[in-house]
Amino acid sequence: MSGLFITFEGTEGCGKSTQVKLLADRLRSLGYVVHTLREPGGTPIGEEIRHTLKHSHDNAAMTAEAELLLMNASRAQLVREIIRPALAAGEIIVSDRFYDSTTAYQGYGRQLDLQHVETVIEFAVGETKPDITLLVQVPPEVSADRLRSRQANLPFVRDRIEEADRAFFERVDRGYQAIAAADPDRIKIVNGAHSIADVSVDIWSLIEPRLFRT
Ligand code: TMP
Repeated sequence: MSGLFITFEGTEGCGKSTQVKLLADRLRSLGYVVHTLREPGGTPIGEEIRHTLKHSHDNAAMTAEAELLLMNASRAQLVREIIRPALAAGEIIVSDRFYDSTTAYQGYGRQLDLQHVETVIEFAVGETKPDITLLVQVPPEVSADRLRSRQANLPFVRDRIEEADRAFFERVDRGYQAIAAADPDRIKIVNGAHSIADVSVDIWSLIEPRLFRT
């Protein structure tokens, strides 16, 4: 029996992490076994890589190529340690980001060659691909506002990726639009500018028809 692999995507501040939690809680209340994951991260090795990528004091000189490979090192570990065994056991994965983030951020954002990016992703994930991807879209100015208010309300933690300039995040946003247009069967766009409750209703209407019985 194969489970269900759901991924969430979107730019900073789109609200996807809140929706990951709401969806997982709802699925669990119906009796499904659900794993919530985040990328980069999700395993002990992946969380160390996440720290190196985002918060380490020594990461300022990281090249785009090293960033691409580290994202996918974390992913290769997550796929084999957690995702494949869970899906084989008929369980549900809800992941906060997966490989579309790499195409959007390292491909479009950092402007690495898209063919190289795809080759590295394929090596990391093999046959393990999401069944459905929810792209939570907000206009870039909403994303920037939410990020600013999040930074103002939490203790300061340096984040190398969030330090990129506005043009980078605009390229990431355009990348997501291109990725979604190329794969409309898998990638569903959700309007993240609506209220949390309305967004979660939209998401449920996309997920419910895909559920198997427990
Ligand atoms: P987040 O967990 O707060 O979304 O932070 C993850 C950051 O890493 C975010 O800035 C997006 C970035 N990222 C990439 O650049 N490439 C990737 O493949 C993934 C999974 C995340």
